[in-house]
Amino acid sequence: MPFFNKRKINLDLNNMPKHVAFIMDGNGRWAKKRGLPRLVGHNAGTETLKRIVKESKKLGIPYVTFYAFSTENWKRPSDEVNGLMNILVKFIQSEINEIHENNIKVNILGDIDRLPDFAKEQVHFALELTAHNTEMQFNIALNYGGRDEIIRGIKLIHQDLLDGKILPDQIDEALFSNYLYTSGMPDPDLLIRTSGEVRLSNFLLWQLAYSEFSFEKVLWPDFDEMAFRNAIYEYQKRNRRFGSV
Ligand code: IPE
Ligand code: IPE
Ligand code: MG
Repeated sequence: MPFFNKRKINLDLNNMPKHVAFIMDGNGRWAKKRGLPRLVGHNAGTETLKRIVKESKKLGIPYVTFYAFSTENWKRPSDEVNGLMNILVKFIQSEINEIHENNIKVNILGDIDRLPDFAKEQVHFALELTAHNTEMQFNIALNYGGRDEIIRGIKLIHQDLLDGKILPDQIDEALFSNYLYTSGMPDPDLLIRTSGEVRLSNFLLWQLAYSEFSFEKVLWPDFDEMAFRNAIYEYQKRNRRFGSV
């Protein structure tokens, strides 16, 4: 267990991240440590997700992104994949009203066409219900892969070139960003990955170009508001130079 100062962490409200991205990792190991099935860990991880979304709203962070299922996670045993889809549906069913009442907009980053029908239906319901909410954007990366997203963007640009909607000279970083799932959103200021793994696992490869990284030893189900505040506190001490002096 990492040590966190028990006294309240005072965050600089003028230097809050506008976008925090999370790689929610370590659910399986959390369950294994307790001799429980991996899905119990995923369920516990969902509780952390709810708490961190609430805390983000309290802190006034306008964009949060959570990596829930990668394009590579289809390689897991079908029982686990199905279990994760069920947890997603259960999460939407039980939380969507509260999310909506809190004026939070749900977005999906990733290709949802490949999800099973029952999951797709719930996802579309959540997207439509919250489409006009304005307080905070809650992104769930689902069947998401950073390379897949870039290739998809290239194909969309290619089509717009063929249709004469854009000219080759107009292609620059800003335009390309508009062809990604995160179109219109600021890049993450801070990336938090739990469970001690120090890698990106194909997450937001374009968008994380200048983000600050926080790799936490704690497993995702044990990550809490205090750990989150502490990560922001550390972030606020960093000197973001963006290539200048
Ligand atoms: C992260 O936890 C959640 C998903 C990938 C869906 P893991 O399932 O990867 O947990 P570990 O890494 O095996 O502990
Ligand atoms: C990354 O975690 C994907 C999600 C958290 C959804 P993984 O557990 O799948 O990543 P690797 O396999 O350890 O790189
Ligand atoms: Mg993992």
